[in-house]
Amino acid sequence: MENKLKIFGGKRLVGDVNVEGAKNAILPILAGVILCDGKIEIKNCVDISDVRCMREILKTMNVSSLAKEATLYIDTQKIENQKITHDLTQKVRASIFMLGALLGRFRKASIAFPGGCKIGARPIDIHLRGFKSLGVKVVERHGYIYCNAENMKAGKVVFDFPSVGATESLMMCASLLQGTTKIYGAAKEPEIVDLQNFLNKMGANIHGAGTDCIEIVGVEKLHGGEYEVMPDRIICGTYLLAAATCGGDVTVHNALAWHNEALLSFLKQTACQIDVYNDKIRLRADKRLLSIDKIQTLPYPFFPTDLQPQMMVLQSISEGACTMAENIFENRFSLVPELGKMGANIVVKDRTAVISGVQKLYGADVSASDLRAGAALVIAGMKAEGYTTISNVHYIDRGYERIEEKYSSLGADIKRI
Ligand code: EPZ
Repeated sequence: MENKLKIFGGKRLVGDVNVEGAKNAILPILAGVILCDGKIEIKNCVDISDVRCMREILKTMNVSSLAKEATLYIDTQKIENQKITHDLTQKVRASIFMLGALLGRFRKASIAFPGGCKIGARPIDIHLRGFKSLGVKVVERHGYIYCNAENMKAGKVVFDFPSVGATESLMMCASLLQGTTKIYGAAKEPEIVDLQNFLNKMGANIHGAGTDCIEIVGVEKLHGGEYEVMPDRIICGTYLLAAATCGGDVTVHNALAWHNEALLSFLKQTACQIDVYNDKIRLRADKRLLSIDKIQTLPYPFFPTDLQPQMMVLQSISEGACTMAENIFENRFSLVPELGKMGANIVVKDRTAVISGVQKLYGADVSASDLRAGAALVIAGMKAEGYTTISNVHYIDRGYERIEEKYSSLGADIKRI
């Protein structure tokens, strides 16, 4: 696919759109299949590059996966434990999830460090400390991690930060470990509940996901089966923020309000109109919205870092000023200079951005630097006067399936060039 988008801004967004399966639930589940011996069908699966990369890693372990519409057909009956090399882990950060799953299944694993990205160094020390607290031997050498879990024992894991990935890694690592393992200080994101539900459907015995204490009672083995992935709350939030920013009347289907309570509560302060139903959310906005004076990103259930760039665009054209603190990643304001080219007035100091709303954004040539900043630039381009060209669209394609088609269906003038 071409790597640029061209947008002619100023159109209101009107219509209905459906939210696909959650990227951040599918990716750990694609590692979790390693624990299962059999055929697995994953329904409501999106066709995005991060998913394709995880399938490529599974293929190196002789795990086949076939995509038919929105279902992945996976067969792990001939699985072999393989070293996961640098070229694979560099493509997708979620490759780190393979480590916990391989330790859970085979008690041994070798994997290259997944590396950082634009939004931060993204170390994996919390994952590794968790494994060590269960007796796993961890050796880090020349960019690789070699783990031996032959003497791993069920026990207590205490996190000093509610890391989403580390919570998921330890859940998978302990699923087939005799005895009861407890994770204290666990992250509470809905995607973690989805991973628990998937593993339990395949025969695991895990409870407490969604709270800060998760209990894993090890079982002998996990079998195959089918599972439908939860809807993507970040894709949903991106649609709502796009409608609020561009103005219009958009109904987002397959949208669970309780996954986005923090966002909805903020949006209600902006004077847009929101109607919540049991599986859809309607947002109407027909005038310039009011700024939210203070926003900070925090672990779930508070406002998510993955909606911070999209919210920044809304605040950049709202009436008033907003002080936004990014508490999760140390470098997640890469959108600011790009928005500045479009006329936004944003001053960054350390991990806080002060956003003074302007009347208008103007089309410009901008560049995506990471997944969510890229999606935010699409929103800015749809709002701006004139043409905007966005390069490095491959970042957006990591998490958004054919983004230009989805927003064109709502009336945006957006093309891949
Ligand atoms: C998951 O990343 C998501 N990715 C991220 O979504 C999301 O932003 C993040 O959780 C927070 O909600 C997937 O689920 C695939 P963390 P993860 O471990 O697991 C530090 C997107 O746009 N940390 O909760 O990597 C870390 O550096 C992506 O879809 C350590 O210091 O997030 C960060 O500052 C972006 N040591 C903070 O904790 C560790 O061992 C949160 O990281 C692990 C994390």
